Amino acid sequence: MQIIVERNAALSAAADALIVPVFEGGREERFDAGALADAGEVSGKSGELTLLHNRPGAAATRVLLAGAGKRERFSPAELRKLAGTALRHLKAKSIRKVALALEGEWATPANAEAAVEGAILGDFEPDRYKNPADRKTVESFAVVAPPAAEGIDEGAFRGRVIAEAQNFTRTLVNEPANRLTPMTLADAADRMAAEFQLKCKVLDKAKMAELGMGSLLGVAQGSAEPPALIEIQYRPEGGAAAAHLGLVGKGVTFDTGGISIKPADGMEKMKYDMAGGAAMIGAMRALAQLKPAIPVTAFIPAVENMPGSRAQRPGDIVTAMSGKTIEVINTDAEGRLILADALTYARRQGCTHLVDAATLTGAIVVALAHIHVGLFSNDDALRDRVLRASEAAGERMWAMPLDEDYKEYLKSAFADLANVGGRWGGAVTAAWFLKEFAEETPWVHLDIAGTAWLDDAKPFLAKGPTGVPVRTMVQLAMEW
Ligand code: BES
Ligand code: MN
Ligand code: ZN
Repeated sequence: MQIIVERNAALSAAADALIVPVFEGGREERFDAGALADAGEVSGKSGELTLLHNRPGAAATRVLLAGAGKRERFSPAELRKLAGTALRHLKAKSIRKVALALEGEWATPANAEAAVEGAILGDFEPDRYKNPADRKTVESFAVVAPPAAEGIDEGAFRGRVIAEAQNFTRTLVNEPANRLTPMTLADAADRMAAEFQLKCKVLDKAKMAELGMGSLLGVAQGSAEPPALIEIQYRPEGGAAAAHLGLVGKGVTFDTGGISIKPADGMEKMKYDMAGGAAMIGAMRALAQLKPAIPVTAFIPAVENMPGSRAQRPGDIVTAMSGKTIEVINTDAEGRLILADALTYARRQGCTHLVDAATLTGAIVVALAHIHVGLFSNDDALRDRVLRASEAAGERMWAMPLDEDYKEYLKSAFADLANVGGRWGGAVTAAWFLKEFAEETPWVHLDIAGTAWLDDAKPFLAKGPTGVPVRTMVQLAMEW
């Protein structure tokens, strides 16, 4: 889908369909729509769509009145949804040239960005392996803004870069595990890095052994697929910066649970257990184009968690790169085991601040459902930075506790710590485990198990991978 910025009056924009936001209580008089408002057919409620044909005053063949909710509550987040909802509606009707009117006070860079994001995210379908003959395509999406409005091109550019990166992540997450292994994930990262002039290194099993990554290797040993630790570097022009941001993402290409095997029902979804890693790769793709002021490095430990004949067993004790020993009580708590060594490695590479994203626990889904990302941190300042970024990016996150008292749940009789903390507070004890490896480095952990995958399509988003938290990571780096 081609993205266009058109400097024109909305009414003069030529398109197969022109999307016009209408507010609750505001009566759209143009396009002979006043009567529809009086009849109660057009109320302006969020999500409402009314398609009109051949209306006087509009150069476009069709006008789609799109409910924008209450005027005083309107925001880029609302517009992102509106654009996505409208685009998906028009796409289903095989409409090819779409335009959206940003008029008057709404013609801002942030709104141009949100409209383009909403359209590109709404356009995404996880249909790579479905018959292309059944595929519908929108040819172009134009933001129509008055010639005098400033920053529209820049806003639209940002929106395109970020949403395309998010869709890149969604494509990776949706790949089945027979096609996406740790090595093919590393290849995908490598190709992306080459395309956008980033440096990419892939540490293999031998290198990991040399570095003492016993925790990561313990998980990998149950699979015939070799592990990979993917490292992608962005460096700003002009040298030394005060901070170096490390983005660490869980890259379990399939999670069977290992010897502590999962029930069969729903196990097919565990291909999305690399969503955190894919999000960090996607964020790097956007950052390569938006060029933040600070260096950013992504680290993705990639493994397949399988119950092969060489698999680690419950009761095994491994030594992590940091030197800590871990008793593996449950092989299904594998995410924290691979992240432990990735966090240590990121610290040793000089990262001053760390953010990790991981589909880490079922417990976070119990706590926050599919609405908020669970956020944990050892540093209030970094926590607030990430929360601010998430708000600006429209990805909801909720700060969870990490009091000292939780630590005792991870006690092991035979090692420095156990890899599980028992029945209660599972998302918190998992985060506490990671905290032991972040050590003194300011760190935020994002548990995205409930938010990285949509079980049912929304009017503005297809079923499947969401691409969370790509937008927050980009916002965080750009605002640093
Ligand atoms: N990948 C899972 C967590 C998960 C669960 C993600 C549901 C998405 C949806 C993780 O590796 C896992 O298996 N966690 C266990 C931990 C337990 C063994 C302490 C869990 O949450 O059940
Ligand atoms: Mn697991
Ligand atoms: Zn997992």
